[in-house]
Amino acid sequence: MKAFITGAGGQIGHDLVAALLSSGHDVVSTDLLDRPAHHQSQEPWLRLDVTDAAAVEAALLEARPDIVFHLAAILSATGEKDPALAYAVNQTGTWNVLEGCRKAGVGRLMFTSSIAVFGPLPDAGPGQSLPDPTPDVMALRPTTMYGVTKAAGELLCDYYTRRWNVDCRGVRFPGLISATLPGGGSSDYALFMYVDGVRHGRYEAFCRPDTRIPLMYMPDGVSALLQLASAQRGALTRSIYNIAAFSPRADEIAASVRRAVPGLQITYAPDPLRQGILDSWPPALDDSAARRDWQWRPTYSLDAMTDHLVPRVRELLAT
Ligand code: SER
Repeated sequence: MKAFITGAGGQIGHDLVAALLSSGHDVVSTDLLDRPAHHQSQEPWLRLDVTDAAAVEAALLEARPDIVFHLAAILSATGEKDPALAYAVNQTGTWNVLEGCRKAGVGRLMFTSSIAVFGPLPDAGPGQSLPDPTPDVMALRPTTMYGVTKAAGELLCDYYTRRWNVDCRGVRFPGLISATLPGGGSSDYALFMYVDGVRHGRYEAFCRPDTRIPLMYMPDGVSALLQLASAQRGALTRSIYNIAAFSPRADEIAASVRRAVPGLQITYAPDPLRQGILDSWPPALDDSAARRDWQWRPTYSLDAMTDHLVPRVRELLAT
């Protein structure tokens, strides 16, 4: 198949493009920026700003892909510093990509949603939060511009599937962890424990030690996208699915990293903005629909991720 990727230079793009190429697919990678130096691949790379509707349409008409993986987004912490930018990229950008798909006759679009579509329920009593685990079907009350635009993107996906026959599907990703440098997400404390743990032997986390959100190792995240992309439409009971792997407390992640990085020192200095965002997210996701409909299963536990990731972080920092 021919796949067209937006935001290919980001954290998911790096691993997704490599997986698609190694399976023999044609890939057109697009991003606002040039190909990052750490991308080894040689597929065509197009500079594309998803907020530019005409450019998005022209690129899709030219490429005529079988499937679009729409990854371009501003993450939650960066989005709170510049909500207008998050709206432009995440909301208008998604609209532009969907319209481009409609006009270019693209049959399938994969949307990357997030745990950030959830937020505290208005009628929950004091001290009550989202169910643990949080099911697929739940009132969406996001507190960040990132979450607002992802929730709207989910609805747009349903609309385009119903109205325009662009078969849109997606997953609500947990915080994703991979051998990369953190990029403006609130879940980045987990990634920093690995990167700064290897780099400096210590890290001061911007969250409390009891912070608990869903997390996932990137190879599982990429598998989920590819599995859902190739599932039979008739087997799907929803267009956007919760997926889950593990939900450790921050201090449990620290203990796992310390197994591979002896002497690691983790301290905690919660940042009110990012702690507030983390506290608004579910502690864990119920992914039973994905398990039932398209046989989703994660491979990596927290410790299995640590064992696999730490050597890769060492390689990343050595380059
Ligand atoms: N990892 C994202 C963030 O922290 C959530 O999807 O913004």
